[in-house]
Amino acid sequence: MSGALITFEGVEGSGKTTQMLRLERWLRAKGYRVERTREPEGTRLGAAVRRLFERPGIRPEPLVEVFLFMAARHQHVVEKIRPWLERGRIVLSDRYADATVAYQGGGRGVPADLIRELNVRATGGVLPDLTLLFDLDPAQGFRRIGRRRLDHFERQTLAFHRRVRRGYLEILRAEPKRVRLIRAALPPDEVTRQVRTVVEEFLRGA
Ligand code: TMP
Repeated sequence: MSGALITFEGVEGSGKTTQMLRLERWLRAKGYRVERTREPEGTRLGAAVRRLFERPGIRPEPLVEVFLFMAARHQHVVEKIRPWLERGRIVLSDRYADATVAYQGGGRGVPADLIRELNVRATGGVLPDLTLLFDLDPAQGFRRIGRRRLDHFERQTLAFHRRVRRGYLEILRAEPKRVRLIRAALPPDEVTRQVRTVVEEFLRGA
């Protein structure tokens, strides 16, 4: 496979989606062929999974959450990500395999080893070449989100989101070469500079 998969991870309100759009424009201007996607909504099946969480009366068990996100992920890899990588594209994904380790592992207490094993199956071994972890205190993230209507995961307690943050930081500690810390509490233009520095370095070495 000749392309590269770059994933964007972090707690709610970390600004990763805005930064991903900026990076996409910047890479395109440099002549790279880029595809942008997100999880779980990257396919129609994934969008249906996302909507499930918002349906009244549906309260998936932690392990069911894992299965649902894995189902969306496998479909996403087969339908979109793998074909793009085979065509040499740089694929930018707003969340991917690490999100399940952080949210369902760190947040909900599903054993991380089990999630990692299922991720290997769900991704068929298509793992990120580079992951940007947008780190900030979830309380600050929620101040940024402000009063917009919160979704299922955003409505969880602050303690839940702090566990998610810790889950992400553990992934960073375990894989410091693949995962790069972005200090998301800084002003947006400064965050953009950090992202470009990390991605430039990655592309030079890739
Ligand atoms: P967002 O990226 O637009 O915030 O929406 C995705 C939501 O789904 C977010 O709250 C995190 C959650 N999520 C998980 O809990 N596990 C996963 O594996 C993924 C991909 C997302």
